[in-house]
Amino acid sequence: MQKSKIQFAVFPVAGRGTRFLPATKASPKEMLPIVDKPLIQYATEEALSAGATKLVFITGSTKRAIADHFDIDHELEEELEKQGKDDLLKAVKDIVPSWASCIFIRQGSPLGLGHAVLCARPVVENQPFFVHLADDLIDAEISCLKQMAEVHAARDASVLGVELVPKEDTNKYGIVATENRDGKISRVTKIVEKPKPENAPSNLAVVGRYVLTGRIFEKLTTIGRGAGGEIQLTDGIAALMNDEPVYAYEFAGKRYDCGSKLGYLQATVEYGLKHESLGDSFSKYLKDFTSKMNQK
Ligand code: G1P
Repeated sequence: MQKSKIQFAVFPVAGRGTRFLPATKASPKEMLPIVDKPLIQYATEEALSAGATKLVFITGSTKRAIADHFDIDHELEEELEKQGKDDLLKAVKDIVPSWASCIFIRQGSPLGLGHAVLCARPVVENQPFFVHLADDLIDAEISCLKQMAEVHAARDASVLGVELVPKEDTNKYGIVATENRDGKISRVTKIVEKPKPENAPSNLAVVGRYVLTGRIFEKLTTIGRGAGGEIQLTDGIAALMNDEPVYAYEFAGKRYDCGSKLGYLQATVEYGLKHESLGDSFSKYLKDFTSKMNQK
């Protein structure tokens, strides 16, 4: 039976983005653009495409630009209208559709991803919800969260978006061990936050996409601090697995780690090449540029 749609999407956006300093000193890393849209807008568009209607941002200091981005800017709209810049006006108006609402919650202290998610409890209560980490940009024909919502509907359980990573990178991710594989879906038997390669139960990594049941909140209140002295979402999920099944889902799509400079540049190039109005000229530029480089 098809379960009801997931309404809430939670975006933890309080992190300082130290890997991108000085760019992120005064502006949020989630506002870094890939071509002409900030990372956080790719995130909200993905959640909206999966059926979410309530976008919950867990923010912190220096993150005001995110709230401004999703707010109506009457002055700008009037100006664009006067100048007849209809395409730009549409781009600005379409950032959030009128049927969706944005909810901002401040995460008072930087106590980790699990704590950030817990901050959403007063609005999400005990409904299932998406968690989306905007650093992980996923290009997919059917959006990653939409694929995961389907798995959730079929299994009525929490679902983690996973992909294989090089063994030496296990210490950057939550890593799962799984059983009972059925195509791209398997049941999680173990989850560990950032294990060293020699201790990792596999090289199947959780990337920044989750569908979680409301019961996770109760777990997050009791687990205490884990790796790095933070309240880890991974530990909350491990506790949740004692009560209910959690599934790993190997999504179809290409992930760019936009929390790293290299991943960010790769995404910029590949989204630039796919861009509707820019793609052809950018492709020509890249071809000329690489052939000049090869002549050197
Ligand atoms: C967080 C999570 C980790 C997950 C990763 C995905 O880590 O703690 O379990 O695998 O996101 O990007 P962070 O990248 O915030 O250190």
